[in-house]
Amino acid sequence: MTVDPGYHTRLLTPETWDDFAALVEGNNGVWGGCWCMGFHAEGFGKAPTPEGNRAAKQAHTTAGTVHQVLVYAGDECVGWCQFGTPTELPNIKNRKAYERELDAAPAWRIGCIFTGSKHRGRGVSRAAVAAVLDEITAAGGGVVEAYPEQVVDRPAQRGAYLHTGPESLFEEFGFTRDRRIAKWRWVMRLRVEA
Ligand SMILES: CC(C)(COP(=O)(O)OP(=O)(O)OC[C@H]1O[C@@H](n2cnc3c(N)ncnc32)[C@H](O)[C@@H]1OP(=O)(O)O)[C@@H](O)C(=O)NCCC(=O)NCCS
Repeated sequence: MTVDPGYHTRLLTPETWDDFAALVEGNNGVWGGCWCMGFHAEGFGKAPTPEGNRAAKQAHTTAGTVHQVLVYAGDECVGWCQFGTPTELPNIKNRKAYERELDAAPAWRIGCIFTGSKHRGRGVSRAAVAAVLDEITAAGGGVVEAYPEQVVDRPAQRGAYLHTGPESLFEEFGFTRDRRIAKWRWVMRLRVEA
């Protein structure tokens, strides 16, 4: 697995907020304005609006309660991968099925992953996951979970459907299947040594 050296990464912080915001706004708000809030503890709330999601995400960024790698091509932010502890990111998809057979919580989980529509198929998400694993290594390592979509043995899926990433991407990094939590969604795990 080789990460394209043409990309570089930064964390989402108040300094990089405008770059992240430009990516979201350049992609129709991403899912109509989710602003990558779905995995956070408050989720989308009862009556979500794009403006409310934006403000909530910016508040997390200001408070330092978000972990998110941004991928850059030159000065342009072209993608991201969110990660965090289970406490920081409790709202995974298929949560009931996940908890039914949960033995021990992971140290980290990978949440939402996104590449700008004009930059797909060029290794952006690969660069994002590589940087996330570097961050986790630097933070002490531990078991990391991802919840990707199976892509083999099923019809081809458009990228829009893969907001937790394709399974093949995580396989490249050594993640292995732990258990199935939906028809096409798996818990995958990797132990990262510090
Ligand atoms: C899924 C997604 C993140 C992939 O990003 P990407 O930068 O295009 O992916 P990469 O080029 O790094 O691909 C890495 C590997 O992932 C897999 N992959 C990527 N897109 C895939 C797809 N549509 N179907 C199957 N596998 C795919 C492949 O194994 C690929 O390796 P290969 O090119 O050597 O075959 C992107 O399509 C996307 O952002 N989709 C929208 C998801 C979304 O809406 N997220 C936000 C919701 S809040």
